[in-house]
Amino acid sequence: MYRHSMDNPEEFWAEEARKLHWDKTWDKVLDWQPPYARWFTGGRLNASVQCVDRHVKTWRKSKVAIYWEGENGETRVLSYSTLYRDVNRFASALQKLGIKKGDKVALYMPMIPELPTFMLACARIGAIHTVIFSGFSAQAVCDRVQDTGARLIITADGGYRRGKIIPLKEIVDQAASSCPTLEKIIVVKRTGQKIPWNEGRDVWLSSLMDDNAEYYVKPESVESTHPLYILYTSGTTGKPKGIVHGTGGYLVFNHSVYQWVFDIKEESVFWCTADVGWVTGHSAIVYAPLSHGAAIVLYEGAPDYPAIDRWWDIIEKYGVNILYTSPTAIRMFMRHGKEWPEKHDLSSLELLGSVGEPINPEAWQWYYRNIGRERCPIVDTWWQTETGGFMISPTPGIEAMPLKPGSATHPLPGIDASVVDTDGKELPPGQKGYLIIRKPWPGMLLDIYGNPQRYQEAFWSRFPGSFYTGDFAMRDEDGYFWLLGRADEVLKIAGHRIGTAELESATISQPAVAEVAVVSRPDEIKGDAIVLFVTLKKGQQPSDALKKEITQHLRNTVGSIASPDEIYFVETMPKTRSGKIMRRVLKAVASGQTLGDLTTLEDEASVEEAKRAFEDLKKTSEKNKQA
Ligand code: WT7
Repeated sequence: MYRHSMDNPEEFWAEEARKLHWDKTWDKVLDWQPPYARWFTGGRLNASVQCVDRHVKTWRKSKVAIYWEGENGETRVLSYSTLYRDVNRFASALQKLGIKKGDKVALYMPMIPELPTFMLACARIGAIHTVIFSGFSAQAVCDRVQDTGARLIITADGGYRRGKIIPLKEIVDQAASSCPTLEKIIVVKRTGQKIPWNEGRDVWLSSLMDDNAEYYVKPESVESTHPLYILYTSGTTGKPKGIVHGTGGYLVFNHSVYQWVFDIKEESVFWCTADVGWVTGHSAIVYAPLSHGAAIVLYEGAPDYPAIDRWWDIIEKYGVNILYTSPTAIRMFMRHGKEWPEKHDLSSLELLGSVGEPINPEAWQWYYRNIGRERCPIVDTWWQTETGGFMISPTPGIEAMPLKPGSATHPLPGIDASVVDTDGKELPPGQKGYLIIRKPWPGMLLDIYGNPQRYQEAFWSRFPGSFYTGDFAMRDEDGYFWLLGRADEVLKIAGHRIGTAELESATISQPAVAEVAVVSRPDEIKGDAIVLFVTLKKGQQPSDALKKEITQHLRNTVGSIASPDEIYFVETMPKTRSGKIMRRVLKAVASGQTLGDLTTLEDEASVEEAKRAFEDLKKTSEKNKQA
């Protein structure tokens, strides 16, 4: 299958594409004008048709589409016909608010069924959704709304997290005050608490429903290359970039890879524990499992609330067959001990998945023994927001293969991955290098929204003709791929992606801060931890109170995932003569490591200078700690 996909990629992907419903078949499988790939051009289809209409025409109309579990114990079960009805009614509501094909709609919502329903409703009318993770701050919401020019944002009065209410509507109000394009806010009632209201701008979802929302909205038959969504993710510079995914290629790719990797079927109960606000949620909660007619579990709250065994309770309750989660979560549960999963019947599980960061062999073994009970293969899926779907992963849906804990194994059919050196030369087994993809694939992003130049630079300039992933990897003697973390200034905090540049620009806007450098240090649970080195403006004194203020400032500017783990106040930053901050020195101090090999010092600082800076900083950081 792999060989066929490499020798005849267009024939291969055309066969896959026939598994979906097309209103009009494509004229051309692939239009490849580097760096832009356009798949199934001339073809027309609709994403909501793949995910709901196709199922309600069969026996699946009465089967479960969504098992929803609120953090507070509330539950809702939606059949495919219920979901179909809601998608149509929400689409009608959007139309009544004047939303048309090509309009951008922002979603800032808790994990409730209305979130996937609204995504599908947008897709139904050809509107482009941009989901904003509900842990992001008002500033982050505003940046994304501004960048897309969305006229409408959909939110809820609040959402539950660890027993507390997150005031989503208030955060949206704050964002809206500096978003001139925003005309309307749809509010879904979730918590029922009192919220500020702006008559004329704000509208309850329920009132749109009462207002004769239609039960059928004709799906807009969009071009295969029509954008399905924009999703922001962090890069190495500046603000997050809006990754644009198309319709035909994205759906074909995801439909296929979920069969190969998860062996997903209409009778599967599939639970991806990610938030819909990340790409994992887009592909693994909404588009892929629903396109297969499977049942998804959607859980609103924290993994350890009200007790450490909440997840195992959910698996038992709904008979989950496939669990897809992150190494960070596994390491967290590992720390609490196996007695928590042991209390539960997990025999429904057939397959386990891991995503977001490299999984260390200890966590892999723990997951395999204590959750899969040595019966379930683990698929370690490597992919990115940009790739739309899985790229390197075991494929038990195709055939059984030996796994190696910590390796994502092999590229999927159609994926031409390679590990190269700085000059783009393929490396022999056992050598660490850069991971690149040499052929376009259907899930590949269409562009960076509004910034084609950045698209070109970020992905295609480093190794011309190939897609640069930003990851280090190594291939072993058996051809297995080992993913070795980011090769750029992007951190993975609990599997969530954030750029050091973004954190630095957020920190520098704090009034007391003169200069800042952000580096990561390894964290046993979260993967990466955020460490700040800060010099203060004249007259400012280092203090714990100031640390708290800076932390709060980052939470307000970016969101809770940006909370620093450590802040060091320093007199001066170690710099090269040309003024470049010596990050390696900072990283070594932050990680409590030695400075290591300096023979390839990336900047022109002398070895002596770097060493001196390292010793100075170590002293300061120790003093900082004692204080
Ligand atoms: C980065 C992409 C794609 C879903 C969630 C993350 C890291 C992702 C793995 C894995 C090792 C992984 C990479 C990648 N990553 N999956 N199985 N093994 N590393 O999406 O936020 O776009 O992050 O996550 O570093 O580049 P994302």
